[in-house]
Amino acid sequence: MPRKASKKIKKRIEIEENQIGAGKLQAENLLKEQIEDPMMQLRYAYAIDVIQARLKLVNADLTEQNHRQIIRSMSSRIKSTESICKKLVKKEREVTFENAVATLNDIAGIRVVCYFCDDIYQIATALRRQCDFRIIKEKDYVSNPKKSGYQSIHLIVGVPVTYNEEKEEVRVEVQIRSFAMDYWAELDTQMCYKKDAGQILNVERETKDYSDVIAKVDNKMLELRRRIEKM
Ligand code: GTP
Ligand code: MG
Repeated sequence: MPRKASKKIKKRIEIEENQIGAGKLQAENLLKEQIEDPMMQLRYAYAIDVIQARLKLVNADLTEQNHRQIIRSMSSRIKSTESICKKLVKKEREVTFENAVATLNDIAGIRVVCYFCDDIYQIATALRRQCDFRIIKEKDYVSNPKKSGYQSIHLIVGVPVTYNEEKEEVRVEVQIRSFAMDYWAELDTQMCYKKDAGQILNVERETKDYSDVIAKVDNKMLELRRRIEKM
């Protein structure tokens, strides 16, 4: 190829790449603007509040039935725009507001930590029974832990949010796990999950081994509690 022509092609590719880059930035800015819109954020906050209020009722009911406290703590968060963009890229989806809202189930998230591993199922069953929420999806990583060793039950709950004449369903990811599972997951998040340190073979194997050890202790504590309850 003559030198002049190849220079021209290079320049054209550079311009096209810049245009794609500018387009991407524009899409990201648009997503930021729409996700961070106060009405949008308040819709997610509203859905979180509704489920948390119901979980407080569930806790009171189960606490009375079991004669002991069931839920240890609850926390919530709305996913940051940066995390939303990262997750869309990870899932190989175009970074747009429409894709974020339509395909991500965890823009609004609640974490429920209970004391014992059998409490998880009691809480999940109670949530499934609520007639005004729709359970859209369930993942039981307690019966089937992830390869990493991660354990929890995830329920994607559809909450009706009404404002004026408009009614829409907002999805909230509810993660339910025992205190012991939470301990493992919190340390794993710090060390591996978000930093990809898990890719290193030994780190992956060790964290999985510790998750097995913790699960054993969690089950032993449950056995012990059951023996005490029978006395
Ligand atoms: P991600 O959120 O990108 O993981 O994918 P997903 O929406 O397909 O759902 P998944 O059920 O795999 O995980 C959802 C959430 O569970 C994550 O955002 C984390 O909070 C938690 N999680 C899943 N796997 C792990 C893990 O191996 N370690 C830790 N610490 N947390 C995990
Ligand atoms: Mg997540």
